[in-house]
Amino acid sequence: MDNDAFFRKLWDDYVEIAPRAAGIRAHFESLGETVVDDHVAFRTFDRDSISIAALEPQILGLGYVLSGEYRFEQKRLRARSYSPKAGNGPRVFLSELCVDEFDPAFGEVIDTLVSEVDTQSGMGLAYFYGGRPWAAPSFATYSRLAEVSEYAAWVAALGMRANHFTISINALNGFHTLESVLAEVEALGFSVNDSGGRVKGSPATRLEQASTIADRVPVEFAGGDHYVIPTCYYEFALRHEDGDGVLFDGFVADSADRIFESTHS
Ligand code: NI
Repeated sequence: MDNDAFFRKLWDDYVEIAPRAAGIRAHFESLGETVVDDHVAFRTFDRDSISIAALEPQILGLGYVLSGEYRFEQKRLRARSYSPKAGNGPRVFLSELCVDEFDPAFGEVIDTLVSEVDTQSGMGLAYFYGGRPWAAPSFATYSRLAEVSEYAAWVAALGMRANHFTISINALNGFHTLESVLAEVEALGFSVNDSGGRVKGSPATRLEQASTIADRVPVEFAGGDHYVIPTCYYEFALRHEDGDGVLFDGFVADSADRIFESTHS
C-alpha cells in the first residue's frame, strides 16, 4: 500500500462516522480550493501490543521521522508527532492514554479489551483504520469509562481509526485566517469547539488551531444496542514561520489539550 492509498483508506473510514468532515471538505473544493491535510491524529492505550511504541514502526516505514514528543498531565496522555521526510503528505500525531496513572479497576477494564487484540495478524497499516480490535463494550462500561476519561471511552467504543483530519489553512488560496475558515464552517451549520477559545495558539506559538465539535452517530454496543455518541471532528491549522523563515513543524501541547475536548459529550 503506498502512502496515498493509506491516507485515502483512513479518510474513507473517518467520513463514515464523521460525515460533516466530508461536507466541509467538499464545500472548500466547490470554492476552487485544493484541500491539503496538515495532520491526521490517532488515539490508543499505552499497552504493549497497541502502544505508540508498537505503532510507530508503521509510520516510520511510510518515510516519516519523529518531530516531537508531548505530555498532557491532566488528561494523562503522552503523544508523538511525525513528519514526512520527503515533505509531502500529512503529519501524523499519535497519542496514548497512560493507563497505569488511573486506579486499578479502570486499568482492568482497559486490559480486558486489549487482551482481545489479535497480535498474530500483525500490526500492519490496515490496523490504523481497522476500527475496534475488540468486541463491542457494553454501554454501561463505555459510560463508566467516560466518567473518568472521555479519551478512554472513545477508544473503547471506536477503536483504531483517524480521530481527526486537519485542513491546512496555509494551503488554501482564499482563506488566510482561522476566523475566516470558521465563519465558512459555521455558515454550513456546523458548531466550533470553543473550549479555551475558538482559536487555540497564536502567531507567537507558531501554530493556530481550531476544530468543529465532533459528529454524533449511532454506534453499536454489546448486545446489539445502538447509542448516539461523539465520534470524530475536523480540525483547521495555520502554521507560522520562525525568525529564520522556517515553518513550524510540531505541535503545541496547550492547544492540543483543548482540541482533545472536541469529542466531549
Ligand atoms: Ni490535531
